[in-house]
Amino acid sequence: MSKKDCKKHQEKKEKDTFVGGPAAWVAVMGSVEQSENEHGLTLVRLTHESGATAVVHSFGATVLSFTTAGGQDLIFCSSTALLDGSKAIRGGIPLVFPQFGQPDKRLAQHGFARNSVWQVLPEPSSVPDEFAGMCTCVLGLDNTIATHEAWPYPYRIEYFIAIGPETIVTKLMVHNSGEENFAFQSLLHTYIAIGDISATTISGLQGQSFFDKASDDPDTAKEDPDQHIEVAQYVDRIYVPPPEGLLPDPVTIVSPVGSISLSRHAQLSNSEGTKPLPADTVVWNPWAEKAAALSDLEEGGYMRMVCVEPGLVNGTIQLEPGACAALTQRISLER
Ligand code: BG6
Repeated sequence: MSKKDCKKHQEKKEKDTFVGGPAAWVAVMGSVEQSENEHGLTLVRLTHESGATAVVHSFGATVLSFTTAGGQDLIFCSSTALLDGSKAIRGGIPLVFPQFGQPDKRLAQHGFARNSVWQVLPEPSSVPDEFAGMCTCVLGLDNTIATHEAWPYPYRIEYFIAIGPETIVTKLMVHNSGEENFAFQSLLHTYIAIGDISATTISGLQGQSFFDKASDDPDTAKEDPDQHIEVAQYVDRIYVPPPEGLLPDPVTIVSPVGSISLSRHAQLSNSEGTKPLPADTVVWNPWAEKAAALSDLEEGGYMRMVCVEPGLVNGTIQLEPGACAALTQRISLER
């Protein structure tokens, strides 16, 4: 998004009421319906004209599911996840913002966005081209809804969710609506449904550098020599792009569910124009022992999921007033 668009967006913000409802913005090609769950929290259901569907929970703007037109679930959500707003949802696509992990102990692990109730926006500031032909909705969060004294900046986030027959795209746009720079991290914490981890391989990251958070030396980058990743133990890796470069794209997850491609990119738009941002990719599976400590992960759930998480987490992104940072993932069932 250009700076002009950001400004237009800021001006428009004054008019936006941030109230969701039946008039919430939909970019054709299907329907978007809102309902309340038994805890009084809004759920958004997208139905693409092909029959593909997705459900988004307003708590954390967490995508709970995406089912292709052919009936294949591509996103794992624990059957024991809490959906009452008392805890970040275990599974789906939680959003990490404004910190990854807990570098600042005053803020919650992975920040406050996944623990906040987002609003279904009546309309977006602009419609990204990549959603042509898709059924789309947009949710919003800003500092009047969720903030923290440890990170007290005026910001506004738009989160687009778009589905097509075999594809879900999610795009997080962070706007600095204040008058000073702020630094943040963000990540799309995607739980991919793979059916059986022992029959799953992840490719596209071989030979890249990563920080191994599951090792004794999490702060030294290693190089991945493998052809592909096979998860047979606790895995927690942050893959980082080469200096001045980007990670190869896409990541491909081959599993009993099918071959799923996850493509990702990030961009920074400011007064100088738009340039790519080097996105990182986290690969995480808690494996048996750590899974047992997660009270909201269903029995044996770690065997049916792997997290492949595009993010801006190695260091921080500096965002100047009026600037926008966008992080996008596109997940498709290839066969
Ligand atoms: C991953 C992190 O993104 O999220 C892991 O790399 C972390 O270190 C995992 O354990 C799950 O975090 P949480 O807070 O949802 O249990």
